[in-house]
Amino acid sequence: MDAHALKIEAARAALTHVADGMRLGIGTGSTAAEFVKLLAAKVAAGMTIVGVPTSERTAALCGELGVPLSTIDETPELDLTIDGADEIDPQLSLIKGGGGALLREKIVAAASSRMIVIADESKLVETLGRFPLPIEVNRFGLKATEIAIVRGAGKLGLSVSLTLRVTNGQPFVTDGGHLILDASFGRIPDTRALSNALHAVPGVVEHGLFLGMADLAIIAAADGIRTIQAN
Ligand code: A5P
Repeated sequence: MDAHALKIEAARAALTHVADGMRLGIGTGSTAAEFVKLLAAKVAAGMTIVGVPTSERTAALCGELGVPLSTIDETPELDLTIDGADEIDPQLSLIKGGGGALLREKIVAAASSRMIVIADESKLVETLGRFPLPIEVNRFGLKATEIAIVRGAGKLGLSVSLTLRVTNGQPFVTDGGHLILDASFGRIPDTRALSNALHAVPGVVEHGLFLGMADLAIIAAADGIRTIQAN
């Protein structure tokens, strides 16, 4: 099975956790998009849910496929969020934001009673950090923010290389109007310490470490579905 087929299998397994009447946070990315397609088929067959999308991209897909939507302002408390991830460690700490939606993803996940992360097995790692950590930053003071991030990481013994995310020759701009720095650490041994250090930098809007947020991971592998439950 290729990665695309595995994403569909993970999304299909997640759908069994969705019940009529739920207020559902809906993630961003290629795996979440497969979930939206399967969810839309259930909605067409009569399931009643209301979705809160984590990006304009997801909102557009839900709109095209007829998934009923609300906003986080209208529906600030959610039952469940289902979203993808770029990396998942055995404690269910995540790196997210490869699609640039990490801020809204984190706000929506934090407003949800439960979060289920769906992925193919390539996303499982022993230690987070191989995937560059997306950091959403304010445009103002970009250089100063970069210097503060490098210094903060250095105090934790981490060396980092920062790359401003660019698409089509232009800086990538998030739905919130911010920029993304992709931070290559290689390994992040103490994710909580790094999270705190990044939050201490004023220009950092949010980062893609999701710690203690996911309740369940549904991982699709060639030999079937595996779940990892949070402790
Ligand atoms: C979007 O900003 C991300 O957090 C995605 O959830 C993550 O990048 C996983 O995306 P894929 O499902 O496309 O791998």
